[in-house]
Amino acid sequence: MNLNRLGISLAHLLPPELSNKLSLEGLKLLYNLGLLSSMSNQGFQNSTGDQILNLNFPNKIGVAGGLDKNADYFHVLGKLGFGFVEVGTFTLKPQSGNPKPRVHRFTKEKNIVNSLGFNNVGVYQGLKNVERNKLSFDGVLGISIGKSKETKTINAYKDYLHLIDYVHDQADYIAINISSPNTENLRDLSSESYFRDLIEKIMNKKDQLNGGFSQTKPFILKISPDESKENLEKILMSCLEFKVDGIILNNSSIEHDKKFKGGISGNYIKKLSEDNLTFAKQICGDEISLISSGGIMTKEDVAKRINLGADLVQLYSGFIFYGTDLLKSSLEI
Ligand SMILES: Cc1cc2nc3c(=O)[nH]c(=O)nc-3n(C[C@H](O)[C@H](O)[C@H](O)COP(=O)(O)O)c2cc1C
Repeated sequence: MNLNRLGISLAHLLPPELSNKLSLEGLKLLYNLGLLSSMSNQGFQNSTGDQILNLNFPNKIGVAGGLDKNADYFHVLGKLGFGFVEVGTFTLKPQSGNPKPRVHRFTKEKNIVNSLGFNNVGVYQGLKNVERNKLSFDGVLGISIGKSKETKTINAYKDYLHLIDYVHDQADYIAINISSPNTENLRDLSSESYFRDLIEKIMNKKDQLNGGFSQTKPFILKISPDESKENLEKILMSCLEFKVDGIILNNSSIEHDKKFKGGISGNYIKKLSEDNLTFAKQICGDEISLISSGGIMTKEDVAKRINLGADLVQLYSGFIFYGTDLLKSSLEI
């Protein structure tokens, strides 16, 4: 058994939330001791890099939002070989999230159900962590932002506009998360009555930060896999209209048969994510960069998403279940 598989087997003996934290702490310890390079995939990295969203990605494989909620580990994940890491999701103030247990792992089927609810240290502390760890990070850094639990839907845009002001200088790209299933009413933001207005306000903000020039930090929208085709089409059309730079398809799904509350990730949403990506590619063509997330568990999945039109892919559950083996094999494609 290799070191990676041994580590995963040991970690999976513990409750999921604790084991995630300990695994990341373990990696950080190896990093601090200078021992991580032996596990890293530097040799497999694309030497020229990929120009996407006007950014130079060392490779197309990234870490999805929520694995490094507080920006404590992205430099370590970069050292492992990931081309980009999306930290957060940050809210304006610190939040403790929903009651525990709130992460459930289905090891045989390779699925995770979580109802965390944006537990994070808040954007102020989060940015301090970003500032510190960015010094040791060569990849592309996405910062994910979301509305606070107590913010009413009608005022949600204010949270996003404030958060953009906070994170704009530090982020290489900003991920606007309107799709977590674990903050009550968050997904209302993608409904017809709110979405167009919200995205217009957000993209106007981008123009203001820009001072009218077309070059600025890319704004990327992360959407839910549970939209009806009809609404997904409307969302995508608005993204085209307001020139959203990128779309992440997709977050976890609430449509599942598990007895736990929350969104499901992993194998269960593979087909859903592939279908949504295919649909988005049909509508958006090459106008908007597409980032695929959801059920990417093998290097074949990575290759398939790229074939279906993804410019970049993000791992979460696949990394939890297969660790660096998945990253390493994906970088060999
Ligand atoms: C425990 C857990 C926490 C998550 N937290 C966030 C989050 O804070 N922000 C976010 O945008 N996505 C979050 N996600 C969703 C993932 O980023 C990803 O989009 C989703 O899990 C689908 O990918 P996967 O099937 O590869 O896991 C979370 C997922 C899990 C399993």
